[in-house]
Amino acid sequence: MMHVRRPVLEVQGLSVTFAGETVGAFGKRPKPFRALDEIDLTLNNGEALGLIGESGSGKTTLGKAIVGLVPLSAGTITLEAGDAAADRRGRARKVQMVFQDPYASLHPRQTIGQTLAEPLRIHKAVPADAIDHMVAQLLERVGLMPHHALRYPQHFSGGQRQRIAIARAIAIEPSMIIADEPVSALDVSVQAQILNLLDDLRRERNMAMLFISHDLSVVRHLCQRIAVMYLGRLVEVAPANALTRRPAHPYTTALLSAVPRVHAGNAPVHKPIVLAGDIPSHAAIPSGCPFHTRCWLYDKKGKPAQCRNARPPLAQHEDGRQSACFFPKEAASA
Ligand SMILES: Nc1ncnc2c1ncn2[C@@H]1O[C@H](COP(=O)(O)OP(=O)(O)O)[C@@H](O)[C@H]1O
Ligand SMILES: [Mg+2]
Repeated sequence: MMHVRRPVLEVQGLSVTFAGETVGAFGKRPKPFRALDEIDLTLNNGEALGLIGESGSGKTTLGKAIVGLVPLSAGTITLEAGDAAADRRGRARKVQMVFQDPYASLHPRQTIGQTLAEPLRIHKAVPADAIDHMVAQLLERVGLMPHHALRYPQHFSGGQRQRIAIARAIAIEPSMIIADEPVSALDVSVQAQILNLLDDLRRERNMAMLFISHDLSVVRHLCQRIAVMYLGRLVEVAPANALTRRPAHPYTTALLSAVPRVHAGNAPVHKPIVLAGDIPSHAAIPSGCPFHTRCWLYDKKGKPAQCRNARPPLAQHEDGRQSACFFPKEAASA
């Protein structure tokens, strides 16, 4: 079947500010910090975009902002271009999120059938007398049995619960799914099954998928494009192949260097790049390029003043790549 490519998600200049935490009993007043800073991102129908970055870089916050669980402090999020419906219900119908922890995401006192019937009823997705049938179909589609509808979450394993969460997410046929580390809490033995299920559903239903992970090796197999986040900013967005063969940001190069090589010649880096120091706190983001304090390329180039003084924008390069580095061509030359 031929599918026409159209944008399902357009994010422009998105920023999210959090209040910050008070430290100690007589702590100073909490200082607000920017968890996301001027994110621009587009996603087409049927496309899988991987979002990677260290813990705390803002990946979950971006997912939650897109589904409407976190208020924006600036910017716009447009789901399905041309459709102006921005209310919570309209948005929920277009984008659904699958969370990392399948133990926390299902209501313990609701049967699986009730959990799956709820979105169908709220969104009037099917006539009332067809809900049971639809629930059975959903369970079968995710590899469970129709009679499981009568059971409670505690009867299921982590992998099965994640299947149920996925069934709930696809129940109302969203145009986009956000999967936030969907297998990180699961046994290694079932991780591949869940990833394959998500990938099959994306193809079958031509859904867009934002696939959040800290695992670059998973993301590069599942996603056509990859976005790399550092301290609440996108530092590189590129086709998966281009990004893994020839990264255009030194942070991406460092992440790639930590991934064991599957095929010889696939990754440009031969030994792991150990980044200096810890990831800076959001409350003390370095001036200039936020990555320069840990950047191997900055050191190698003799610490150019430009990197200390100006923030590189996420600029468009050849073959559809975007990177926020003043030296994108040298970024692969570790
Ligand atoms: N509701 C919140 N209130 C205050 N700070 C938050 C909140 N949610 C996340 N943060 C902070 O925002 C930053 C980004 O968090 P998160 O999006 O969870 O990162 P990631 O998913 O990449 O690990 C972290 O410093 C985190 O502590
Ligand atoms: Mg997270």
